[in-house]
Amino acid sequence: MSQPTWRSYCQTIGDRAPLFAAIREAWDPDVALYPGSYVDLSPSTAIPSVTYVDTDRRAARFFGDADLVASELSGRALPEAGADVTFIHQDYSTPLPLETSSFDLLISLYAGPVWDNCREYLTPQGLLLANASHGDASLAALDPGLRLIAAVQHRAGVYRLIREGLGDYLVPKRPEAADPQTIRDRGRGIAYTKSAFAYIFQLV
Ligand SMILES: C[S@@+](CC[C@H](N)C(=O)[O-])C[C@H]1O[C@@H](n2cnc3c(N)ncnc32)[C@H](O)[C@@H]1O
Repeated sequence: MSQPTWRSYCQTIGDRAPLFAAIREAWDPDVALYPGSYVDLSPSTAIPSVTYVDTDRRAARFFGDADLVASELSGRALPEAGADVTFIHQDYSTPLPLETSSFDLLISLYAGPVWDNCREYLTPQGLLLANASHGDASLAALDPGLRLIAAVQHRAGVYRLIREGLGDYLVPKRPEAADPQTIRDRGRGIAYTKSAFAYIFQLV
């Protein structure tokens, strides 16, 4: 298989640049951490400094090619976005060469237990973008140190941040399923009465 790039990967996952543009407009994060990023460069279209972490060789090859990364961002990045793109080829569950409390935004999308392993890198009042697929949003919903500040709805390539009526979200269909250890053991999220593509939480 040929070397994947962000733009080729977009044919599979869609273009998430509008999601990060919406996050930038709402909260203006400067520094983001994306463990389990694979080649998803979309945060750098909106955020000035993003550190990507993955064990995958193809991700390492993609981010290792600075010219390719720059060309993929060319014409796509918002002003000041994409200035610093760093890649760490490492398992995110091992200590990363990063300062604790130094990232405004932690991104957890389809990549396992990022919240449990990388929460220490988030600044006070930092943001967590997480989805429920591998359980992270479900764990975050049960974490008293976080509060839900937005749900992300996604339809036909359009991402919308929902900031009102959040009490309707993350309501388990089966309340007994909302147990952190069970979610960790299963490695996947639980079903909610109203679902969303992802959720944004803030450290309290
Ligand atoms: C399904 S892909 C999702 C990629 C991207 N986050 C997305 O939403 O399209 C999961 C990625 O997480 C990476 N990953 C999973 N566990 C990891 C770990 N413990 N450390 C580093 N990378 C990990 C895998 O190598 C893979 O590239």
